[in-house]
Amino acid sequence: MKIDILTLFPEMLEGFINNSIIKKAQEKKLVEINLINFREFSHLNNQQVDDTPYGGGAGMVLRCEPIVEAIESVKTENSLVILLTPQGKTYTQQMANNLKKYNHLILICGHYEGFDERILEFVDLELSIGDYVLTGGEAAALVVTDSIVRLLDNVIKDDSKNNESFEDGLLDYPTYTKPREFRGLKVPEVLLSGNHQEIAQWRKQEQIKKTQEKRPDLFK
Ligand code: ADE
Repeated sequence: MKIDILTLFPEMLEGFINNSIIKKAQEKKLVEINLINFREFSHLNNQQVDDTPYGGGAGMVLRCEPIVEAIESVKTENSLVILLTPQGKTYTQQMANNLKKYNHLILICGHYEGFDERILEFVDLELSIGDYVLTGGEAAALVVTDSIVRLLDNVIKDDSKNNESFEDGLLDYPTYTKPREFRGLKVPEVLLSGNHQEIAQWRKQEQIKKTQEKRPDLFK
């Protein structure tokens, strides 16, 4: 899979994509991630990418041509063009599972007050990571990238993916490691029993209990 991220602030993303599991996935050629500064596609003096809104109002608006030309510089017939915006559909694990099937994603990070509405004509999907407003789409692009890359084949072990939160509409079960007792807090006996069937049963029950308590909305 290839992921091209169009941003005015590639430095904001560099540290994240060049560390840990995402870095290893790139080294193993399981994913290619490119940061593209769409300022380079500006036609204006001093590489301006924004302008004042028609009709008046506060703030600056991203112009069409740098973004659209940046999209066109990488787009093929297999690309899905995604705009990160608080106006988009709310991103979920189910969407991550769907997006991982694409060969090529183009993620566009907005900034400033907003973007020229005509940019939407060149976009396949608008995504929001939640009902709050960020200074730009960069953090959202990282959330989407991270959640997809970890689902790609051979990036992390399959069994870590099978039993995790949201995969079956439930939160993950509680996990413990050594020591057996920490400041009087004990690891549940069943996990020390070696009885795999009982452990599996207990984990499922805990998943249901935890989801009912913490995320009754999911449980419905
Ligand atoms: N840009 C600004 N806020 C955002 C959000 N909540 N999701 C995606 N992109 C954004």
